[in-house]
Amino acid sequence: MRKKIVAGNWKMNLNLTEANELLTSIKDYAFASKDKELVVIPPYIYLTEAINILKSNPQISVGAQNCSQFENGAYTGEISAEMLADLGCKYVIIGHSERRQYFKENGKTLKLKVNEAIKHNLTPIYCCGETLEERKSNQHFKVLGSQISKALFHLSKQDIRKIVMAYEPVWAIGTGVTASAQEAQETHNFIRNLIATKYTETIAKETTILYGGSCKPENAKDLFAQKDIDGGLIGGASLKSDSFLAIANAL
Ligand code: PGA
Repeated sequence: MRKKIVAGNWKMNLNLTEANELLTSIKDYAFASKDKELVVIPPYIYLTEAINILKSNPQISVGAQNCSQFENGAYTGEISAEMLADLGCKYVIIGHSERRQYFKENGKTLKLKVNEAIKHNLTPIYCCGETLEERKSNQHFKVLGSQISKALFHLSKQDIRKIVMAYEPVWAIGTGVTASAQEAQETHNFIRNLIATKYTETIAKETTILYGGSCKPENAKDLFAQKDIDGGLIGGASLKSDSFLAIANAL
């Protein structure tokens, strides 16, 4: 079901004290309408704290930044989708550009991760996005089409409905440069049409598509006002409660 979401991806930031402070300062946040959701996505080791501190708030959920493509077994250092679900996570980010770039995750691996997440009732937040060179050379739609089809288009109509999409142009992540609301809208519309062509118009209309990449209180309202933008995946600005909640207020 199409939802409005603001999700905070902490990446590899904050110590335990800072994590607890941030969680405590957002735990009572309430949206005016019930169809909106705040999602907190801390590093694995803070998931238990996050779940415990936030569990009394029905509008806040917790997600993980990654999961293994394997079910279980001898994979030192890995965390399975089943473990995350068992702990109480609702979401898991899959295919973030930092995972693609630094950990060489490709379509084949991401497809397995998506399958694991769905199998264990976690909602994947599936990220896609082009580099600056790809946009400059007008390859961005082709790149997005390939990232999306390789990891998602094997899914049934029933399962594609479980995916939350996130468009995150690599050139906008952590750079302070945001896609303009028009650029983001055009790309979100492309993603929605892609889903409509592969699946159905109805499924495309029901899909939540988040924008990520230097989203902050100053530009969130404009981005969220676009018809195909259903909220944001927030990195840097999710590390402080005032900026994170200001973005939530913009939803
Ligand atoms: P940013 O990161 O908001 O710091 O640009 C977004 C993301 O990578 O999810």
